[in-house]
Amino acid sequence: MGTKAEQLELLRPEVLGCRRCALRDGATQVVFGEGFCEARLVFIGEGPGSEEDRLGRPFVGPAGQLLDRMLAAMGMTRFEHVYILNVVKCRPPHNRVPEPEEAETCRIHLDRQLDILDPPIVVLLGSTAARTLLDPALRISRARGEWTLKDGRWWMPTYHPAALLRNPTWKKDAWSDLKRVVDKYRELVNPAHESPYYPIETS
Ligand code: URA
Repeated sequence: MGTKAEQLELLRPEVLGCRRCALRDGATQVVFGEGFCEARLVFIGEGPGSEEDRLGRPFVGPAGQLLDRMLAAMGMTRFEHVYILNVVKCRPPHNRVPEPEEAETCRIHLDRQLDILDPPIVVLLGSTAARTLLDPALRISRARGEWTLKDGRWWMPTYHPAALLRNPTWKKDAWSDLKRVVDKYRELVNPAHESPYYPIETS
C-alpha cells in the first residue's frame, strides 16, 4: 500500500499522462493538485486557470492568493493542513467552465485522489465542484455553508475565491462558512486547532 504520499506519487504519472478528453490539447500541462498528503481537510476547485496552467500547481493565481489568505484566517497553510484539488486537471480554453462531460471524464482521477487522501472533511469551492460532487442541480447561493454527510465524509459547498474577487460583498458569508469548517475540524480532527480570527472560546 505505502504511505499516502507514496500512493499519490504512484498515481501522479497516470494523471499527468491522461489523454481522456480534449482539454489536454489546449493545456500546457496537467495540474495534479498539491498540499499535505496526510491532510484531514481537502479543498476542491473547478480547474486550472492561466497561472496554474503555466506553473503546474493549483490555485497559484489571484484566486489562489485569496485562498491562501482564507486558509491563513483559519489558522492553516496549504502544505501543513490541507490538500488542494480541482475537478478538471487541465485548463479549459479561455477559462470557460468545464462541461459536465469533461468533469465526468476527469472524475476517475479525482475519485482516486480522494480514495487515497480519504479526508473526513471536504470543502467544495464554487458551483462546478459542488454540482460535480454533490448535486448537478445545486445553487451555490442556497447550498453554501451547509454540511452533507455522504460516503463517510462531510462536504460543504462555499463560494469560489474567484467569485469572491468579483463580488467582495460575499466574503462575509464565505467567512461564516469557513468558521463552520474550523468548527468541524476541531470536532473531528484537532480540538486544539487555533485560528487567528476564530479563536477557541474559553469560558
Ligand atoms: N480556480 C480553480 O478552480 N482552480 C485553480 O486551481 C485555480 C483557479
